[in-house]
Amino acid sequence: MGRPGSAAERVEQKQRAGMRAAELVADGMTVGLGSGSTAEQFVRALGQRAAAGARFRCVASSGRTTALAREVGLEIVELDGPLDLAIDGADAIERDTLRAIKGLGGALTREKLVALAARTFVLIADDSKLTPTLAERPDLPAPIEVLTFGWQLTRQRLAAFGEPTLRERDGAPFVTDNGNLILDLYHADLAQPELLAETLNGVPGVVAHGLFLGIASSAIIASEDGVLELTATPSG
Ligand code: 5RP
Repeated sequence: MGRPGSAAERVEQKQRAGMRAAELVADGMTVGLGSGSTAEQFVRALGQRAAAGARFRCVASSGRTTALAREVGLEIVELDGPLDLAIDGADAIERDTLRAIKGLGGALTREKLVALAARTFVLIADDSKLTPTLAERPDLPAPIEVLTFGWQLTRQRLAAFGEPTLRERDGAPFVTDNGNLILDLYHADLAQPELLAETLNGVPGVVAHGLFLGIASSAIIASEDGVLELTATPSG
């Protein structure tokens, strides 16, 4: 993890990561757009390229990203086939493997669909998101999107693997763009995230979880020292 910077420095780093990522997008590509404050910097940078004459077809991973993309002049299309490239932020990124935790913004299911549809998936972040291993971020939950139907039973089942906590916003349950709920699974065993991911995939009521394992091929990390590009090495 990098040293704690000021909020303004973090914004500037997210901007630099977003701008570098926009350079990866070739004219005519179909591109997946992530969600969150870092992904939004990428969307803005891509909008500048579109304003300068480049043309992209974009699939957005949230309503918020859709609105921003349209505002900056990007064409939004349905997710109906493979994407050339997708770019997204993350909440934690393992330095070597680029295994990531995503979903603190609540868009994890669409983000995962977009990431898995992409021939190349690139993470962008400031260096506060980097960690030697995911297990070294016990402060972070594994966000899990669950169906509202029977969610208390789903929470009971998930309690075997950690402390599932219903995410709330403004005193009410947080509802995703898909009309579902989020259970944030605290204190899960992240030493072998593949095992946890497989377990979570088998729990009835779970729509998707925020463990993005083996999906990102590279990461663009901005710090006070500049912009670093990391390539994933296989885990295990
Ligand atoms: C949203 C996400 C975001 O990518 C993640 O929360 C990072 O957001 P930010 O760039 O604002 O820190 O997974 O579901």
